Amino acid sequence: MEKYKEIIPEYKAFQKEVEKDPVASVRRNNLKARPDFEEKLAKDFEVEKSSWNKDVYRLGRIDNPGTSMLHWRGEYYVQEESATAPVEILNPKPGDHVLDTCSAPGGKTTQIADKINNTGIVVANEKSGQRMKSLHANVYRTGAFSANTLNLDGRRIPEDTEYDKVLVDAPCSGEGNNCRRKEKAASEQQTKDISKLQVDLLKKALNLVKPRGTLVYSTCTFSPWENEQVVSKALNDTTSLERIKLDFNHCRGLESFEGEEFGSEMDKTVRIYPHHLKSGGMYVAKFRKKS
Ligand SMILES: C[S@@+](CC[C@H](N)C(=O)[O-])C[C@H]1O[C@@H](n2cnc3c(N)ncnc32)[C@H](O)[C@@H]1O
Repeated sequence: MEKYKEIIPEYKAFQKEVEKDPVASVRRNNLKARPDFEEKLAKDFEVEKSSWNKDVYRLGRIDNPGTSMLHWRGEYYVQEESATAPVEILNPKPGDHVLDTCSAPGGKTTQIADKINNTGIVVANEKSGQRMKSLHANVYRTGAFSANTLNLDGRRIPEDTEYDKVLVDAPCSGEGNNCRRKEKAASEQQTKDISKLQVDLLKKALNLVKPRGTLVYSTCTFSPWENEQVVSKALNDTTSLERIKLDFNHCRGLESFEGEEFGSEMDKTVRIYPHHLKSGGMYVAKFRKKS
């Protein structure tokens, strides 16, 4: 991660956090959670509530958050605290029609279904047939029955329907998580190659947003080629970026990197580094479709 030393303020805190085991966290699924949820969770784990997301509970640096009966009953979903931010930013409301273009294994799809209280519709699309299995299992376990699944390349979703809200949680090089799991980092070339697919997925998804509707683009990587560069390439006359406000420590998007200019608008987007929430890295941008 040395290559990002210049762009990550508090680099020492960042480095210290990625050297530790990750803090496990779960998101309460309000579609299934019973009134004694917190009490039961506290019997199984040492629990700390998230400071900004009322549904998220930190369980410490453990490696088995899925062992509780609460998990099998669908009362919670094991999810990185930072990974809950994109849907919080998208802010789906009951009755909304929402498209999730890259949805397996369903962490954010099930979070959207919870937010809309299973009213409205969530179209959960996923390209990989293999990963559809985990998506279906999670939709079933969590009772996210407003979710309708679709097995298409996100670049080929028919344009016969427009959505109030769209999420593009793009396939990415995963630097925000693999640095903590001590996995091999993607090469500079790999991150540049995947950015072409990300631009195509994002441009396509922007066509599927209703006038005045919103779209959130997110990745779990640090690479500016997959984040700010993708967003700057997808912006056009029919869209604008909305400034994201968060109630926890975070960084703003980069206006430039290694001589490449992305524009001052990128300051409206956010970067969440592992030391901010003791969680994975995330990048999030919010688009508004003009009327
Ligand atoms: C970051 S993961 C999504 C995680 C998911 N949103 C969640 O919260 O659980 C990206 C997903 O995009 C899928 N994907 C890759 N290429 C795609 C494409 N062209 N169209 C749609 N999905 C694609 C991958 O198989 C992967 O499941």
